[in-house]
Amino acid sequence: MTTRTATAIACANIALVKYWGKRDRALNLPAAGSLSLTLAALTTETTVRFDAELETDVLELDGAAADHARATAMLDLVRARAHLALRASVTSRNNFPTASGLASSASGFAALALAATRAAGIALAPRELSVLARKGSGSAARSVFGGFVRMHAGDRDEAAYASPLTSALEHDVRMVIAIVGGGAPKSHGSRDAMEHCAATSPLYAGWLAAVPGDLHAAEAALASADLARLGEVAEANALAMHAAAIASRPAIIYWQPTTLALLAEVRALRGAGTPAWATMDAGPHVKVLTDASHAEAISRALAAVPGVTRTSISAAGSAAHVAT
Ligand code: PMV
Repeated sequence: MTTRTATAIACANIALVKYWGKRDRALNLPAAGSLSLTLAALTTETTVRFDAELETDVLELDGAAADHARATAMLDLVRARAHLALRASVTSRNNFPTASGLASSASGFAALALAATRAAGIALAPRELSVLARKGSGSAARSVFGGFVRMHAGDRDEAAYASPLTSALEHDVRMVIAIVGGGAPKSHGSRDAMEHCAATSPLYAGWLAAVPGDLHAAEAALASADLARLGEVAEANALAMHAAAIASRPAIIYWQPTTLALLAEVRALRGAGTPAWATMDAGPHVKVLTDASHAEAISRALAAVPGVTRTSISAAGSAAHVAT
């Protein structure tokens, strides 16, 4: 019996300058660059086993059988590259709620790309792995790397990859995550939502026009270790993305009343001198950028907001790696 197995671990990432829109659907090329922080506290562990006994790919996600269409699409790319015909069993486990706007597709496809290539006997350079992960999910290209990461838009397949950014902020930065409503699955997956937004929102063009300036400002803030500047850009960028999404027809509204209460709390904290800036993705949860010395107090303040199920604090995470 022929089997080949590998296990990989990847951390999720949260964008500080968002990816929201594609230039090419088939290749999954982003319309613009993005910039993120990889998070140590949110991890996916994925095992891929190519097995001659299997007739189809199978996926087990968090202990239950799941639709394997997107995993199969990535496995097909790996099989083609490795000249391998075997079907695979994929077992994936998140240590946080799946598909709830907490970036599980980012860590999930980064871990799958790494585990699948290693199980198939090929070792890709990080940049090539990032290109491969992007085809599963745009944000997954960034989870190949640790710390602060810049995604390059690229105008062709090999040019759309992520690379790490060094910043003196990496050691001290923290993200406080406030889970709203128990981590229920999101209503509108980001893949379809961003296409719908690009096709129907009168604010999409304005969103896209804002991204280069935000990327520039965020990179400058990282280079000069200016957390306040980074936070201001991140919060403004997230609000611009959501404004474009909200203006879609029909509307895409990820926020719950608790999301707005959390935004108000973050503003109040900031008004009282606490470094805290909010960002939100394709779900109701709020993630707050801060530093190590303020994270606990912010976590307590957010946990007291009615409707918040739980909070957690994350430091910067490491690059995707093979489990030993
Ligand atoms: O990678 P996707 O297709 O799940 O899209 C990610 C979209 C956002 O999380 C909203 C923004 C981002 O850059 O991560």
